[in-house]
Amino acid sequence: MNEEIRRITAPQIKARKGGEPIVALTSYHAHTAALIDHHVDVILVGDSLGMVMHGLETTVPVTLDMMILQGRAVMRGSKRALVVVDMPFGSYEESREQAFRNCARVLKETHCGAIKLEGGVRMADTIRFLAERGVPVMGHIGLTPQAINTLGSFRARGRDESEWAPIVADAKAVAEAGAFSMVIEAVAEPLARKITGEVAIPTIGIGASPACDGQVLVLEDMLGLSPRVPRFVKRYGELASHIEAAVKDYAHEVRTREFPGSANVYQLKAKP
Ligand code: KIV
Repeated sequence: MNEEIRRITAPQIKARKGGEPIVALTSYHAHTAALIDHHVDVILVGDSLGMVMHGLETTVPVTLDMMILQGRAVMRGSKRALVVVDMPFGSYEESREQAFRNCARVLKETHCGAIKLEGGVRMADTIRFLAERGVPVMGHIGLTPQAINTLGSFRARGRDESEWAPIVADAKAVAEAGAFSMVIEAVAEPLARKITGEVAIPTIGIGASPACDGQVLVLEDMLGLSPRVPRFVKRYGELASHIEAAVKDYAHEVRTREFPGSANVYQLKAKP
């Protein structure tokens, strides 16, 4: 019998606190979503798509329509993983009402299971408002790339203990406001350990050490498709060189008329 695959839910991810590590990866397309679906717990349709897919310098120009388009593609490609769609810069910070309106649009138009938004203490009221109204929220603290224009750099945070207090306060505010999990990006290991030990929801680290309850990476970074990656990325593949070699072979075969060969050509139907 072909049993229907049921998707992992936000409450199931929340219940994984302190248990088997949560595996998360980004995907922006139906085909990569289908490839990773059986191996991960969470697929994040990250606003990093602005940099990875569109060659933008930061995530700031990414729009809600871009996120919805790729969120729909990822939902079509996957069946099992919890799909979380990033809220892009400018779509949720203005007011709790603006956040709810745009999150509802994302949930309705993509059918994803949760959204992610950046910010700690300053976003706590909004997270509570959303969570109380049926929007599962994944928080994002530490390095928050949408704030690059005020932060000034993508450097890791909390490498000096004097920086810890506001980041710990952010983590607690997100957890207490009702988020089901939070991404911690680019923070020193002892800080990630402290936060993970002190909040009741799973922490999902990117550049935040194995102390977290789970890990997330940008798929293109770990596959070797991104030209420059931060030091916290481990490359599990070198796809760029494979793609280039395949394209070089193709170009050569077209130029020498080796391709298309007889196996790739339609002939007339045999007459009866
Ligand atoms: O946009 C993204 O891909 C993310 C991850 C870096 C966590 O937010």
